[in-house]
Amino acid sequence: MRTEVTIQGLHAALAPARAARKSIGFVPTMGNLHEGHLKLVQEANQRCDVVVVSIFVNPTQFGAGEDFSTYPRTFEADSNLLAEAKCDILFAPSVEEIYGTQPQQTTVQVNSLASELCGNSRPGHFTGVATVVSKLFNIVKPDVALFGEKDYQQLAIIRHLARDLCFDIDVIGVPTVRAENGLALSSRNGYLSEDELTIAPAIYATMQSIQQQILAAKDPSKLNFTDFAKQGRKTLESQKFVVDYVEIRNPDLGTADKNGSKWVILVAAKLGKTRLIDNMTVTRPAIVVEA
Ligand code: PAF
Repeated sequence: MRTEVTIQGLHAALAPARAARKSIGFVPTMGNLHEGHLKLVQEANQRCDVVVVSIFVNPTQFGAGEDFSTYPRTFEADSNLLAEAKCDILFAPSVEEIYGTQPQQTTVQVNSLASELCGNSRPGHFTGVATVVSKLFNIVKPDVALFGEKDYQQLAIIRHLARDLCFDIDVIGVPTVRAENGLALSSRNGYLSEDELTIAPAIYATMQSIQQQILAAKDPSKLNFTDFAKQGRKTLESQKFVVDYVEIRNPDLGTADKNGSKWVILVAAKLGKTRLIDNMTVTRPAIVVEA
C-alpha cells in the first residue's frame, strides 16, 4: 500500500492506473477505522481494480463545541488495517492540503435535506460534509465511491450532490455493520463508558420494535407513524438517552406514506456526551392476490 499526503503525490500514484483505464474505487473516512470501514474497502475491492481510502478529519463538518479536537486519530493502527484489507493507496492529507491557506469562498450546500434531522441540531454539518466530499471527488476522480448506510442522511445528501453536480461517480451504500448486541459500529462508540455501552444497543432494540409494529399492521390506513415514533422516543428517554429525533420516513427521506411498502426508521440520541445515530429500513412484503 502506498501512502500519499499531497494531491500531487496522489495524482502521480494513480497515473499508471488511469493510463491502463483501471477502475478506481474510493472510500472516504475520518480514520479510527473499524469493521464497518473495512467492509467498505472489501466492497470497493470487489467492484474496482484499484482502491483508494482517504483519512481526513474534516474540520468544517464539526460545529463549535463538537469533538473535532478530540476526535480519535489512530493513524498507525488504521494504516496497518488498510494494508491488510488490500487498500492500494491511502490518501492522508493535512487540513492545509485540502483547504489551502486562503479563506474558502466556495461551499457546497445541499438544500432542504441538509437542514432536517441531524442538520437541525448540527447546523452547517452537511455543508462541511458536502464540500469536503466534492473536493475529494475532484481530487481522486473515482469511478465508484462507497459510504456506510449507517449515516443514512449523509448518504442521501451525497447521492444528491453527485447527481446535481454531474459527478460521473457511482455512489454505493454499504449496509451497517453491527456488534452482536445490535449496536451499530461507529468511531464515536469509543467515547462510551462501560455502563453506556450496555445501554447503547437499546437504539437497535427500539428500532426493531417499531419495525415489528409497522409490519404487524394489517390495515395500512391505520399505520400511525407519529405514535410509533413517540413510543420509541419514550422508550429511549426512559433509559438515559437524550433523544434528538425518532422519525419514520420514506426511503428518500420524504414524509412517510402509509400506502408505501418501504420506510426508514431514523434515530439520533445522546448517551452522556456521545451522540449516536442509527437507522433501519422496513420493507413490507408484497401482497400476492390469488387469481
Ligand atoms: O462519514 C464520514 O466519515 C465523513 O463524514 C466523510 C464522508 C469521510 C466526510 O468527511
